[in-house]
Amino acid sequence: MPKDKPKDTPNNKPEKLSSSRRTEQASDNPGGSRRGSFVIGLFTALAAAIFVFWSGWPAPSDGEANAAGGSGADVQIATSVCDAHELRAAQEEDPNLEIEIPAEFDKQWPSANACQSAIAAWDPEADGPRQPIPFSHKHHAGEFEIECLYCHSGTDKSQAAGVPSVEVCMGCHSQFPAEYDEIEGIRILKQHWEEKKPIEWVQLHRLPEYVQFRHNRHIQAGVECQTCHGPVEEIDKLHLVPDGHIGYLVPVAKLEMGWCINCHRQNHQQASQDCLTCHY
Ligand code: HEC
Ligand code: HEC
Ligand code: HEC
Ligand code: HEC
Ligand code: HEC
Repeated sequence: MPKDKPKDTPNNKPEKLSSSRRTEQASDNPGGSRRGSFVIGLFTALAAAIFVFWSGWPAPSDGEANAAGGSGADVQIATSVCDAHELRAAQEEDPNLEIEIPAEFDKQWPSANACQSAIAAWDPEADGPRQPIPFSHKHHAGEFEIECLYCHSGTDKSQAAGVPSVEVCMGCHSQFPAEYDEIEGIRILKQHWEEKKPIEWVQLHRLPEYVQFRHNRHIQAGVECQTCHGPVEEIDKLHLVPDGHIGYLVPVAKLEMGWCINCHRQNHQQASQDCLTCHY
């Protein structure tokens, strides 16, 4: 995922621009002797076609590229630590790219992956609802291997797994240096902390009231979080992951009764299929 990123960073643009400038010059010169011969006329037409092709192709980025390259100095200057990570990655792809990283942004934290996860967790194209903070499970539970139970501490003890309080987040984040606030999610987190307001996370999994489900019994029976919730530690923006199971040749959606019953049937020594197990 991080490796895909540099492809759409601005470093491609100056190159395209200079190609279009080159063709422009080429089409100007023969233009003067257009009447001279049929061959030159043909060449001009061809060059013009090439110019139209080249200048028309990267149209959406033209304005930006002109602004950066117009004066001939296309040094890209970083405007934040995250921006500096992106420029460095872009320069690795294209060694000709000139970049300048002011000392205040020449830092290790926030890490490049944190910057990318924060963007991915709010990606409107990705599945799942937009949460009040772009919080990434991939970054916390995956890369930093923070235990699920550290944040969802109710899971093995009580019925509900629960989501962590602002206090749990701040247990780590109050120790981060102030520059870390350049990530918008951290500023939102700290604002909730100062105003003593809980974060209103959008809940994804919700059973109807008449169904009884207890996390603790499942965890104690050795059922993994991922069996029911999918590979959470690989996901930036959390969403309901469809179940792979097929019941009576029909795929079963998560949280439907058939999904619960399927697994209970497979674990029949342990798990009951009695209606009253799940319904009072
Ligand atoms: C056990 C410590 C710990 C806890 C608890 C914790 N974080 Fe983090 N958080 C980190 C670390 C470590 C990073 C990444 C540092 C880096 O790579 O730059 C991070 C990065 C982030 C980022 C940027 C990357 C991303 O996920 O978008 C946000 C936003 C964030 N945390 C919000 C939160 C919120 C909200 C909570 C509470 C629900 C929380 N954190 C709880 C340690 C923690
Ligand atoms: C047997 C399947 C199953 C397993 C295993 C499981 N969950 Fe859940 N989880 C559910 C269901 C079903 C709900 C919806 C519960 C409800 O609406 O009462 C849920 C809801 C949640 C919620 C949000 C609602 C709440 O309870 O606050 C969180 C967070 C959660 N699970 C985390 C975890 C974690 C972490 C683990 C592993 C330690 C885990 N789950 C293991 C099925 C499971
Ligand atoms: C640093 C804290 C943190 C860690 C570690 C963490 N989570 Fe979460 N989890 C959250 C927060 C905050 C939310 C609510 C925002 C969201 O849905 O992304 C959440 C939401 C969830 C939900 C969706 C609950 C719902 O609304 O239905 C599930 C499922 C879940 N986590 C499972 C896990 C599993 C499994 C692990 C371990 C692999 C894990 N979490 C590790 C903080 C954490
Ligand atoms: C991946 C397998 C699996 C899935 C999916 C599953 N369960 Fe279970 N469930 C178990 C196992 C194993 C036990 C036995 C635990 C024990 O009693 O030791 C169990 C036990 C239970 C119990 C009895 C324990 C108690 O709390 O008294 C209830 C109720 C229950 N499950 C409800 C549900 C509901 C509701 C769903 C669907 C939303 C569900 N389960 C989905 C595996 C599963
Ligand atoms: C392992 C848990 C479990 C067992 C056992 C179970 N159910 Fe359910 N049942 C559920 C869940 C979960 C739902 C909610 C499904 C949903 O929201 O789509 C549900 C929903 C229902 C509904 C409402 C369906 C609807 O479309 O509104 C009825 C009626 C029902 N169950 C009857 C039964 C009967 C009768 C039995 C015994 C033969 C039974 N259930 C056994 C978990 C269970």
